[in-house]
Amino acid sequence: MKCVKVPLKQLNDTRITLMEKGLMSMDFRIKTDGEFGYIPITEDVSGYEIADVELEPMKKVAHSFSELLEDELTSDEIENLKTSFDTIGDIVILEIPDELYSKRQIIGEAAYKFTKRKAVYMKKSAIKGTIRIRDLEFLAGTDDSITIHKEHGARLKLDVREVYFSPRLATERKRVMESVRDGEKILDMFCGIGPFPIVIARNKNVKITAVDINESAIRYLKENIGLNKLAGSIKPYCGDVREVSKSFNCKFDRIIMNLPGLAYTFLDVAVDLIEDSGIINYYEFSNSYEQGIKRLESACEKSEKKIEIINCRKVKSTSPDEWHVAIDGKVSKKN
Ligand SMILES: C[S@@+](CC[C@H](N)C(=O)[O-])C[C@H]1O[C@@H](n2cnc3c(N)ncnc32)[C@H](O)[C@@H]1O
Repeated sequence: MKCVKVPLKQLNDTRITLMEKGLMSMDFRIKTDGEFGYIPITEDVSGYEIADVELEPMKKVAHSFSELLEDELTSDEIENLKTSFDTIGDIVILEIPDELYSKRQIIGEAAYKFTKRKAVYMKKSAIKGTIRIRDLEFLAGTDDSITIHKEHGARLKLDVREVYFSPRLATERKRVMESVRDGEKILDMFCGIGPFPIVIARNKNVKITAVDINESAIRYLKENIGLNKLAGSIKPYCGDVREVSKSFNCKFDRIIMNLPGLAYTFLDVAVDLIEDSGIINYYEFSNSYEQGIKRLESACEKSEKKIEIINCRKVKSTSPDEWHVAIDGKVSKKN
């Protein structure tokens, strides 16, 4: 390695001069041998004695997830992993492709070091079953799956192993919250730990009825009601919304239906419970809006109601040709 050779007493001043001129190499350690010091340089420097000396390389401090993994994975593999990060409170959840499964511990450790969160888990299955949760494998940090996630100022406590929660719906929740008016009576048919109800009730003076079939989700919703300062109120119910709703003796100005795989099978319940001119925020998985619009129209038709579609949007991509889509419709009696 090419170095500037200087007497030890000049070492510090020379080092600073070379560093300021951008001529010192930061990849190797300075060496001393009793009388002289050897400063690694990036190019020839005049006015100094130059020597060729073997130096110890600097230990690299990784500054990014990519650097931590660059010896293990290709840059494409690293880029794909990066887009799979979901951060829920102080927990990171990764999607690791099958071909990298044998490297999951290294990847998990890299994600743990890079994100400095409490725990890293990997997705071990798709979201499945009635309560919409997935299997997770612990990779790094402390195996504690309970966390508090912050979203638009709301504090949302949950156990990532026991309940459904997606931070990727934050923008959608804010959008719905902003469309709510004070005084609305709202039903969230599939509320989970309550992100829609909490985000809305923190900001609007509304009355929300929140239903979920998952006992654990309702337990966290109750905790979340206590964790947040609400302008409105939330009444939680645990059970199948088709059954539970039989005891509701009121209609709602807005019904939120975020169970995208099956919401269409509950449209009869929603259309029955919606107030005249009330809004249904309907969600489904689809590659178009047409299917959802037809389902909403057909459910309204059966109850002799009509629907005016107010807004359609893509919430998030679920596969290359499928989206989690949102359709907002205003339902009114037929004249
Ligand atoms: C996709 S998650 C959405 C949760 C929440 N809205 C959110 O955005 O995080 C759907 C939720 O519906 C609940 N669920 C499924 N079937 C149900 C039913 N028949 N009645 C009430 N809740 C149900 C599941 O337990 C799950 O928490």
